[in-house]
Amino acid sequence: AANKTLLMLPGDGIGPEVMREVRRIIEWMDRRRSVTFRIEEGLVGGAAIDAEGTPCSDATVARAKAADAVLFGSVGGPKWDSQPFENRPELGVLRLRKELGLFANLRPALVLNPLVDASSLKPDVVRGVDIMVVRESTGGIYFGEPRGIETMPDGKRRGVDTEVYTEDEIARVARVGFDLARKRRGKMTSVEKANVMQSGRLWRAVVGEIGRAEYPDVQLEHMYADNCAMQLCSRPKQFDVILGSNLFGDLLSDLAAALTGSLGMLPSATLGAVDATSGKRHALYEPVHGSAPDIAGKGIANPCAQILSFAMLLRWSFGMEEDAALLETAVEKVLGGGLRTADIMQTGMARVGTGVMGEAVMRELEKLTA
Ligand code: NAD
Ligand code: IPM
Ligand code: MN
Repeated sequence: AANKTLLMLPGDGIGPEVMREVRRIIEWMDRRRSVTFRIEEGLVGGAAIDAEGTPCSDATVARAKAADAVLFGSVGGPKWDSQPFENRPELGVLRLRKELGLFANLRPALVLNPLVDASSLKPDVVRGVDIMVVRESTGGIYFGEPRGIETMPDGKRRGVDTEVYTEDEIARVARVGFDLARKRRGKMTSVEKANVMQSGRLWRAVVGEIGRAEYPDVQLEHMYADNCAMQLCSRPKQFDVILGSNLFGDLLSDLAAALTGSLGMLPSATLGAVDATSGKRHALYEPVHGSAPDIAGKGIANPCAQILSFAMLLRWSFGMEEDAALLETAVEKVLGGGLRTADIMQTGMARVGTGVMGEAVMRELEKLTA
């Protein structure tokens, strides 16, 4: 992957803290696996507002488009709460997803064996859980028009958001879900609220049509999103791939994260369409968690979600399956050895900070490749 360019956008809060641990791993890979990427770094979110006046500049968008992959940290924090809505840090990630056409956000929720007891749910409920949430990420209520806060003739205000989905938007993300289900355990649960929402009715119809026409081998199930939230807590093992809208996918992936022990464990990949001529696709890799202002600056954030996002990057953008799997194994082994950041702390285990956790992963890589 020597000719690959990686753009790192650490962002705010714990973003730069957990990104540092990925740097450490890349340096190790440079030394020991003789794979070198060209690394670029940029500003996004509040950090970019402070330096450039905007959460994601045109130049950053252009660099993201030119890169082979983007590794994103997290954005936002109380410091920027007074920003006008059109200039909030969160727009940094939303703009990148939209302008790079990253419509499919893959959020794997995998309960690792060493963390079965770190979950708030009973061990028997979560042991072996392996779910892939496929979240639509460039449409729906996040972008639909009209939107805004407006004053009505009687002087009262109203807030407006609009959920809109075209059939093409539904179809392309559904195909990503079906393709994944085919490579996994052959089941997909598509969630919406077709009982109350028009966009949900269309969602159910389109996913059903594609399933029948193109993926008869995949077991397709439709489920209301509220029921899915409940089922995720009571019987998570029934799920393989969960397909949902931008908003439902956001909510359900945070919920799925809780099954795995912590939001600090969940990586994600946000992918665009494969270009027919070049075979390339834009891609951004981001942990599911945010900038965690409550623990930022304390050196206690769990770097696993960021490290595992980098593993997804190696797999999906750089074709480095072996190195991706090696990194995932290293993380699991470190947890198996009893090291814990505060968010996944269990009695009898050793509590460590971000840097010690990252260093332990690097040492484990060393051992695995000795
Ligand atoms: P959050 O994900 O930042 O934090 C939720 C809780 O999980 C907090 O208690 C936090 O300490 C904990 N947590 C999250 N990541 C952790 C980690 N790696 N290790 C240990 N604990 C961790 O969500 P929030 O508090 O609702 O949002 C904070 C800010 O982040 C907001 O500005 C929000 O908009 C933003 N946000 C950004 C992204 C992103 O950049 N992709 C995602 C979600 C939220
Ligand atoms: C996420 C976050 C973002 C989202 C915010 C920060 C825009 O919650 O990546 O899950 O809602 O998509
Ligand atoms: Mn979220």
